[in-house]
Amino acid sequence: MDNHSIHGMWSSRLAFILAASGSAVGLGNIWRFPYLASDNGGGAFVLIYLACIVLVGLPIMAAEILMGRQGRMSPVNTLRKLTREGGHSGGWTVIGWIGMVAAVLILSFYSVVGGWTMHYTWLYIAQIFGGAPITDPVATFTGMLASPGTLIFWHSMFMLVTVGVVALGVEKGLERAVKFLMPLLFLILLGLLGYGISTGNVGQAIEFLFKPDFSEVTGDTLLAALGQAFFSLSLGMCGIMTYGAYLPKDISIPRVAVVVSATDTSVALLAGLAIFPVLFTFGIAPAGGGPGLIFTSLPLAFNDMPFGIPYAVAFFGLLFVAAWTSSISLLEPPTAFLVEMGKMSRRTSAIVAALFIWAIGLVTALGFNVWQNVRVFGRDLQGAIEFVASDLMLPIGGLLIAIFAGYFLSRDIARSELSQLSKAGFAIWRFLICIVAPVLVLVVLAFKLFG
Ligand code: PHE
Repeated sequence: MDNHSIHGMWSSRLAFILAASGSAVGLGNIWRFPYLASDNGGGAFVLIYLACIVLVGLPIMAAEILMGRQGRMSPVNTLRKLTREGGHSGGWTVIGWIGMVAAVLILSFYSVVGGWTMHYTWLYIAQIFGGAPITDPVATFTGMLASPGTLIFWHSMFMLVTVGVVALGVEKGLERAVKFLMPLLFLILLGLLGYGISTGNVGQAIEFLFKPDFSEVTGDTLLAALGQAFFSLSLGMCGIMTYGAYLPKDISIPRVAVVVSATDTSVALLAGLAIFPVLFTFGIAPAGGGPGLIFTSLPLAFNDMPFGIPYAVAFFGLLFVAAWTSSISLLEPPTAFLVEMGKMSRRTSAIVAALFIWAIGLVTALGFNVWQNVRVFGRDLQGAIEFVASDLMLPIGGLLIAIFAGYFLSRDIARSELSQLSKAGFAIWRFLICIVAPVLVLVVLAFKLFG
């Protein structure tokens, strides 16, 4: 019983690695990382980001996977089981609830942005067949945002493909999808990278991404880097914990955690090396690009370069696939939770969860037009939801996971789950999870709230 989840199991180590990498690699790598790096002084930001991945991301990822594998249930019920068996306060179940609410909120706006990637893929496919070119990318982008119908249509399509996978279950849905989609994603990325290299401007991009200029580092750089580490590795919202619940006992957690973190980081860097050379070639300054960087500046380059239209289809297709495999991991925890309530089949559970999240997504979609003047915490609606979920709930969730795994979960359980680590390796993990990760996250949270 302990060695099996009622929801199904990954059939192999590779299946887990692809699924967890699919969750981690997403809009965060290809859309958010490049503009954060360019807004925060390039190389110095990248270095700090890498340090955050190793010191905070890796140990928390291992903690999430091992807690999931111990509990074998959706986050809320995994925490219930762990606290009951360990004789701890049931209050720790709040970790599961924070995770689930964060997943619901993140998916609600992620699906709208995922819809943009579908819309743009479609616009460029249409161009191959004689559709109108995008001559004024800013007008196209703002036109899309101004149209509730367009946003809601593509938000619905994105939710539909997501629920389509999750409804089919762990082996027949999630695993089959990532086994097909992740190789496709790597293939497209390599193609784009090849083009980036062929422009001859890769040197400039490498210098921009890797040459640290510490004079540009401020407290904000640190905040941005740690926040991005959480968001990009999908940590703090128990999605990786849920995937850990389906991980067979004999698979090494330290090893998969390292592979998944390394994959996620490599994709972010490679995406940077694919995108920046193109921007440099066409004289588009990356600094201060902001969230619109990809949607408003790259289309200018696509218009000018040879094979720009098929290239654009590949590019937005890559974004779409990356977003899709991430959204699957956001819908899985609430779906598994509904299944565990015992009243609904997986299919019904997935559909109910998706409908609920789709409805919340309407707030984001309408926040760009009908409600564009509404401000919450000084932000527009999408910004406010993203702030609460990504900037507050993920670090708070991560902090609680670190404290629970470090101070409450029995040392023997952790040791047996991480049995592949050497004695020294385990001591390092304990040090990172008990001290380094909580202190860093607390400092960053304090800055965010009071700084
Ligand atoms: N990691 C995903 C990305 O980089 C986003 C995500 C966050 C997915 C949290 C799941 C959970 O785009």
